[in-house]
Amino acid sequence: MSILVTGAAGFIGSNFVLNWLSEYREKVIALDKLTYAGNLENLKSVENNPNYSFVKADIGDSTFVAKLLQEHQPRAIINFAAESHVDRSVHGPDDFMQTNIIATYRLLEEARSFFNTLSEDHKNKFRFLHVSTDEVYGTLSSSDPAFNETNQYKPNSPYSASKAASDHLVRAWHHTYGLPVLTTNCSNNYGPYHFPEKLIPLCILKALQDQDLPIYGDGQQVRDWLYVVDHCKGIATVLEKGVIGATYNIGGWNQKANLEVVHTLCDLLDELKPREDKRSYKDQITFVKDRPGHDRRYAIDATKIAKELGWKPQETFETGIRKTVQWYLDNQHWVANVQSGEYQNWLNKNYS
Ligand code: NAD
Ligand code: TYD
Repeated sequence: MSILVTGAAGFIGSNFVLNWLSEYREKVIALDKLTYAGNLENLKSVENNPNYSFVKADIGDSTFVAKLLQEHQPRAIINFAAESHVDRSVHGPDDFMQTNIIATYRLLEEARSFFNTLSEDHKNKFRFLHVSTDEVYGTLSSSDPAFNETNQYKPNSPYSASKAASDHLVRAWHHTYGLPVLTTNCSNNYGPYHFPEKLIPLCILKALQDQDLPIYGDGQQVRDWLYVVDHCKGIATVLEKGVIGATYNIGGWNQKANLEVVHTLCDLLDELKPREDKRSYKDQITFVKDRPGHDRRYAIDATKIAKELGWKPQETFETGIRKTVQWYLDNQHWVANVQSGEYQNWLNKNYS
């Protein structure tokens, strides 16, 4: 048997593939369009693993996907492929609508056609697992309870609106066509291979390069941080034990204001790689113009997945963030490679 992982060269997809190959003896077909966010270096350590193969493709390329499914006969599709960065969606929503909505619809259609050709036994095993975000639920005030699976969808950014649309399509393909789907809605991830456009890797790298650490608005926006490997294990748990058609919230029970997160990063860097002039990296913190429509707070109530499937995060924020900072210090080659022209263009566009 095999599984098809889409968006496999991105941050979470690549962590998922690495974790899967270390824990299971099952073939992984890794598919990715290799946009600016897809990086085959993330998967370099498994490129000679006989259980791993990679194909460069768009999930919206129906002909290609149909052929791939027929050829490999996977027992599951795990869909990570997406445009994922809120700020980019504000500057240019088009790619988000194209991939997160249209291409996801095409992938669902090919999954449905493939599913209809399967034997009863294979049909019983088959799952389409869609990886989504807590941002579909909108924003919380400081006193609101955390999001659970029954919260109404109230997306606020072009990114979250496009992910909400994809979740609805997945739901409809189950209810209308009987496709055996699972959906996970996860909070903010952090960890190795995180593209440095997102807050945590951006601040680590800017700190080391003696640049300003840009905090949007007052820095009191709250996110619920989860170490990426815990997320990957949560997805594997849902794949194995989840009830067909159900959704599961995955979160770290780790609500932190952005400024607190950046202070923690600075403290760790002060300890692990002190500045030559002995000043704290905190001196580099700069408050900049806020993101338009910036959601104030996200928080996940991950009770359902804990109670029903037995998943809980293994890392605390303190252990996970230390590992993450150390990873960036130890992987300067990876960092140098991703800081390409395209990445510099983005920094100039967003922070000018
Ligand atoms: P990412 O941007 O790092 O990776 C996305 C990957 O998808 C990239 O490798 C990219 O090349 C690929 N891709 C984009 N369009 C494609 C297409 N049309 N066909 C095939 N591949 C395509 O994103 P990520 O942070 O790894 O997020 C993965 C998934 O998890 C996304 O669906 C995202 O919405 C969701 N998610 C992310 C977080 C987070 O904190 N990063 C939290 C919750 C949910
Ligand atoms: P981000 O990593 O982009 O994730 P998301 O928007 O999906 O939550 O941002 C995390 C938080 O950090 C969010 O509240 C926006 C804030 N942020 C900054 O303050 N400065 C930055 O330069 C970036 C990229 C994000």
